[in-house]
Amino acid sequence: MRVYRATDYNDMSRKAANILSAQVILKPKCVLGLATGSTPLGIYRQLIEWYDKGDIDFSEVTTFNLDEYIGLSAEDENSYQNFMKRNFWDHVNISPDHTHIPDGKTRDAKRECASYERLITKRGGIDMQLLGLGQNGHIGFNEPGTAFDKDTHVAKLSDITIEANKRFFDREEDVPRSAITMGIRSIMQSRRILVVASGVQKSEILKRAFFGPVTPSVPASVLQLHNDVTLVGDAEALSLI
Ligand code: F6R
Repeated sequence: MRVYRATDYNDMSRKAANILSAQVILKPKCVLGLATGSTPLGIYRQLIEWYDKGDIDFSEVTTFNLDEYIGLSAEDENSYQNFMKRNFWDHVNISPDHTHIPDGKTRDAKRECASYERLITKRGGIDMQLLGLGQNGHIGFNEPGTAFDKDTHVAKLSDITIEANKRFFDREEDVPRSAITMGIRSIMQSRRILVVASGVQKSEILKRAFFGPVTPSVPASVLQLHNDVTLVGDAEALSLI
């Protein structure tokens, strides 16, 4: 694992955006795995800035997002599809039919999971997967206790995740209780993994994930078994490492 120490959130975002843009420049037809949440926002802002300057071209890039809430439509401002459009896709020259995210309004979630997984394989697999880290060690919505051998599946959100994500909703009751998420096996099949973390609230879990035992009770600890992981953290997040 490579670890890049950033001074603060902006520096972390720039360093991680540099790694993603190098991937796109070296392989314009690449497949990126993308994440939502607060941590990647600065990365998307930086990539948009470089796109506006003409420094990066997304016209041949394909993306697959990690996850989507069940029950929220693309129009819902809390859906991850909406998040991605607002914060990234609508601002760069990525072709809409190259962007993929599970359908949260599907009537057959099991089938949606299987076809999402098939599509990733059909597109050649993920070259670089961007990951944020949940305070309980989740990656995607793979909550503590999730088996490492799962592909894309329906996951129940843990109480701590509902609590952490309620900041985006009017009321806690509005936070969906389940989601479709790439599984740990899907994530581990990515050729390269880029983990980003910011803030002191991630410091404890970061230490457990990367320097503690590999165990399903800390899902991100599985990343210790991947042979190409890059971690970019700011000083606060890396303060215990
Ligand atoms: C987002 C995702 C989640 C987040 C994690 C960290 O698509 O799958 O695992 O990466 O919850 O979220 P933030 O960045 O908001 O701390």
